Amino acid sequence: MDARDAEKQAAAEAAVAHIEDDMTVGLGTGSTVGFFLLALARRKPSVRCVATSSGTETRAAALGIAVESFGGTLDRLDLAVDGADQVADDLWLVKGGGGAHTRERIVAAAAARFVVIASSDKLVERVGPPVPLELLRFGLSATLRRLADLGPVEVREAPATPDGGVLADYRGPVEDPAVLAAALGAVPGVVDHGLFPPTLVSSVLVGRADGTVRTITERNGKAT
Ligand code: 5RP
Repeated sequence: MDARDAEKQAAAEAAVAHIEDDMTVGLGTGSTVGFFLLALARRKPSVRCVATSSGTETRAAALGIAVESFGGTLDRLDLAVDGADQVADDLWLVKGGGGAHTRERIVAAAAARFVVIASSDKLVERVGPPVPLELLRFGLSATLRRLADLGPVEVREAPATPDGGVLADYRGPVEDPAVLAAALGAVPGVVDHGLFPPTLVSSVLVGRADGTVRTITERNGKAT
């Protein structure tokens, strides 16, 4: 295993320590979450899970982790665990490299605690481009014309999301993530963007290759 994967595994193992029997758990998307699924499957807790992508759902099922629909009566979760593309000093995140950010935000927002797991290469001073977008197919050209007022946007060569959305990336500057998040979210046709605010994040677990983990919370995020 290379050092990056060892960091991901360390973060994933630390996240599994947050799991208790009878919890409802949201499963994120990506390679770091892949390590979390492996660690969860090894521990076999008695939990109810929902997944943020079909990839995670398939992977979880293959490991014997039952995943239920998030379209039924389940309306809140105890814990969500997910990766990130960027984790800034002020705990703003960029997510959606895997195109699952819309579902990931819904799951994170439904959870009492949202724990982010990351390797050290995800740490940045300030979040920057690209910022993933999910756009409605309907009126796509009009949406892209409005988005162009904010900065350059490239439509991804990628399949539609499970909800039929078109994936794109905002590639302009990110001077103030809160201002940009509000501006992107206000464009009709934008289903969601990948800027996740610090208020959503309970803690970030950054793995080290030696198996130890640095925990960043809102309180110590700037200082450590
Ligand atoms: C998917 C995501 C992922 O969490 C993010 O892309 C990180 O992935 P990885 O763990 O593979 O680096 O936001 O939409």
